[in-house]
Amino acid sequence: MTTERLRPDVDTAGPVEIAPRVWWVGHLIPGDRFQAHAYLIEAGDRSVLIDPGSALTIEHVLEKVRQVLDPRDIRWVVAHHTDPDVCSALPVLDDLVHPDAHIVTEWRGQALLRHYGSSLPFYLVEDHDWRIDLDGERRLDFTLIPYLHFPGALASYETASRVLFTCDLFGGFTVGDELFAHDLGYFDEIRAFHEHYMPSGDILRAGLDNLRHRFPDTRVVAPQHGRIFADDLVWPMFDRLSDVECGIFLMAQDDLHLANLLAASALERRLAQTLLGSAELPDLADRSTILLREFLPVERLEAYVETTDEGTLLFSPEEGYGGTPVPAIPYGPTVPYLALPQPEGAPSIRVYAVLPDGVEIPRSLARAMIQLAQPIQIAMSEHLARRAAARERQRIIAETLRDPLTGLHNRRVLSDAHVAEDPSAILMIDLDNLKDVNDAAGHDAGDQILQGVARVILGNIRQRSDLGVRYGGDEFLVVLREAGQSHAIEVAERIRQQVEHLRVTTIQDGASPLRTSVSIGVAMHPSREDLGMTILRADRRLYEAKSTGRNRVITPSD
Ligand SMILES: [Fe+2]
Ligand SMILES: [Fe+2]
Repeated sequence: MTTERLRPDVDTAGPVEIAPRVWWVGHLIPGDRFQAHAYLIEAGDRSVLIDPGSALTIEHVLEKVRQVLDPRDIRWVVAHHTDPDVCSALPVLDDLVHPDAHIVTEWRGQALLRHYGSSLPFYLVEDHDWRIDLDGERRLDFTLIPYLHFPGALASYETASRVLFTCDLFGGFTVGDELFAHDLGYFDEIRAFHEHYMPSGDILRAGLDNLRHRFPDTRVVAPQHGRIFADDLVWPMFDRLSDVECGIFLMAQDDLHLANLLAASALERRLAQTLLGSAELPDLADRSTILLREFLPVERLEAYVETTDEGTLLFSPEEGYGGTPVPAIPYGPTVPYLALPQPEGAPSIRVYAVLPDGVEIPRSLARAMIQLAQPIQIAMSEHLARRAAARERQRIIAETLRDPLTGLHNRRVLSDAHVAEDPSAILMIDLDNLKDVNDAAGHDAGDQILQGVARVILGNIRQRSDLGVRYGGDEFLVVLREAGQSHAIEVAERIRQQVEHLRVTTIQDGASPLRTSVSIGVAMHPSREDLGMTILRADRRLYEAKSTGRNRVITPSD
């Protein structure tokens, strides 16, 4: 039905019937990429003039109308929205159209349209079931396409010819004076128009979905700008337009370059999608870097966080994660500073994208990258909280493995599997006279002796690898890891001698400093031997040292 009418060679000097009794009555302004179309629905004395236009075109429009019908048969003048290219010529129509003619709009449109100064009354579609009854069964149905690009923007659908009048939707910046689109190539002209004119992709998709749902039988799309298209092109155009990113000038600051804004917009969307899926900081940093590299020559992403106890921590895929304190790199032209979000009480974070020398970042893209700030902030805070919790856990574990009096480990530490697995030497050390000290000088003095011996032990073992353990009341155990027998004997002898020379002064007036001595049994612990067996051997030698005079070391060769 329709496509034969949309011929490439159609003569636009006169009215063009784009569907049965639906006419294009616009005027193509030579060389203008922003053509504004008017349409006429022929319906006896209930005929409809749609988006009549401005002073630039109205005389031509009326001339075409007259070739179809008497303007006094126009009962309805539809203004799909309030822009001057749609309806600033309304007052011209006052005395030309039907005596009972109305301007068709909705309430927000009415508020503005009255300022054009027409004397025609208004017909608000929301008060009339969103429709105009034409002749016979024909109707003109209305629906809102809000914010596209006027809050109360309307689209309408003529039920007999199945023409959808979309106003600014599907408009295009056109080159040449071809009235009809014959292939999807027109979409490029549509895309640019919508990127510039429509406020957001979400709003655009909502409007398109509404039209699809309300008017699924559409055969012809008649926009107010650009080109008319029909049949096979209708839904593919809907599909393509649904993917267009709009509202991108929200990002514009100094940079109005459309390509940059589109790249920034795409980056923002991808970041949002990517970051939603990453909770772990290293994962998030990796993904963000990969994404940034797609859009920019980013070498790496670096995030610095200042913590109260650890200085500045660096997190970067190249440098590793987890907080080697490093000095923050200074701001420089090749190191764009991305983000500094500082919610109350949150750690201070600086994020840098490190670029190769001489690469400058478009401002619009820098803005998109700032979107990184919040997820990194959140991930960083979680990361720090986890670190703090892990440290606290380690502290508690360490405390339960310590003897509070001497600061040495307690015997629970020996249940650690590593002690049993590794080859080592074991020293069992026992004070020779603690009971005497306690009886003579009191338990405080006894505790001082125990602390003094503990200091001697700690002074003779390697902090990282060896273990000093308070094994019982006056008994100590030392694990010397990967120690040969001679080294073990050497350490044992040193401990014995230093304890012998230990002097502990008490607060008792006139009392001479307390002295003590230790007996030590040494045993070698081969790998994988049951630790209890080794301790038993060391214990026997300790007993032997005790029974053979005390203050001596008994070794495996003795
Ligand atoms: Fe407009
Ligand atoms: Fe328009």
